[in-house]
Amino acid sequence: MLYQELIRRKRDGEALTPADLRAIVAGICDGSMGDAQLGAFSMAVVLRGMDLSERVALTTAMRDSGAVLEWDRGPVIDKHSTGGIGDTVSLMLMPAMAACGAVVPSIAGRGLGHTGGTLDKLESIPGYDIAPDAARLRRIVAQTGCAIVGQTAALAPADKRFYAIRDVTGTVESLDLITASILSKKLAAGLDALVLDVKCGNGAFMADLDAARGLARALVDVGNGAGCRTVALITDMSQPLAGAAGNALEVRLALDFLTGHSVDARLWQITCALGAEALTLAGLARDPEQGFSMLEHAFRSGAAAECFGRMVAALGGPADLLENASAYLPVAPVVQVVAAPTSGVVAGYDTRAIGLAVIGLGGGRRQPSDSIDPRVGFADIAPVGTRLNAGDALALVHAADGDSAATAAVAFVNACQIGDVAKPPAPLVLDRISA
Ligand code: URA
Repeated sequence: MLYQELIRRKRDGEALTPADLRAIVAGICDGSMGDAQLGAFSMAVVLRGMDLSERVALTTAMRDSGAVLEWDRGPVIDKHSTGGIGDTVSLMLMPAMAACGAVVPSIAGRGLGHTGGTLDKLESIPGYDIAPDAARLRRIVAQTGCAIVGQTAALAPADKRFYAIRDVTGTVESLDLITASILSKKLAAGLDALVLDVKCGNGAFMADLDAARGLARALVDVGNGAGCRTVALITDMSQPLAGAAGNALEVRLALDFLTGHSVDARLWQITCALGAEALTLAGLARDPEQGFSMLEHAFRSGAAAECFGRMVAALGGPADLLENASAYLPVAPVVQVVAAPTSGVVAGYDTRAIGLAVIGLGGGRRQPSDSIDPRVGFADIAPVGTRLNAGDALALVHAADGDSAATAAVAFVNACQIGDVAKPPAPLVLDRISA
């Protein structure tokens, strides 16, 4: 295969055929396409773009570069978020959808940039194995209805090398390549339906609504084009989604949600809204209204919590995590109040800066090889609209030591706008993009 010919044709704005794109993906996997060629191809795509049929062909070729899981029963569904701060939705939604009758093999990711990752959160649970082999994954999903795990080398292996090359050639920012990368990994789980949570706001990769709509449209069209029923909700990420940001702190918040101990209203709305779309796409609910009620019932009845508990135990975590979370989740040695510097109303957040402050505490990575301190982050974050007196708690900072707590507290205060009035809150769901 003369890869330089394919690169030249893309460079000159031609559409590549499915056979061309399969050849490129084969070359990525067997190494016959060199790093320079893959970098040049990526840049040609960034500059020239792809049409829908090319996007679908690239995505399906990448999906098929490894195993595509098959399931004895269905419907098989999942949710994917483009990443935010305090976004614990997956931890509650996957078991809730399983409790509603779906099969949910959820392939989750790690934190990216300033955003948190579901796998990093789950790794704060002692013993939880994020990388079971295919046979164990199949057994656990059959027993419990859901498993949230990481991508293995067997699933969409083309993406690993492709992403690494994009990362160092200035070619991450391409709707075509982002879409193929995200969906190839998700679709390798053998999904019938997928709901996408495309975050928008100052804590999201897409700060602007038009850009978020563009990404959602690309994902929805390619997902459907690849044979998976797909819908996207564009949701607000202009403040932390819930009251905690940091790995073990977010798991704690999710456990409190599942057990009904403390339920954040925004998190409830968004979790049920996303799940309602997935249940409807999967044919388990007549429409999103019915799906919403089914999920509410799964939470209120304790069925979602029970499913989560069984999943954790099956993956090697403690069997009594829901009952005895404090005995298992790691706790930071320093917990301090982040005091409001003036009286007023929390008018808004620089949400991205909060994510960066969590990384500064050690709760995220500066380098891919960094290990994470699961104990650290912020809890009890005051939502936008909260009225406070000077000195009241804006949040609690959980830190490994006093110095990092002090630095993070300053960063948090700087990230918070306190004014006389808060703007009316943005709607949680900003738009819905369907086929
Ligand atoms: N997440 C992915 O998995 N791939 C991308 O290209 C961007 C975000």
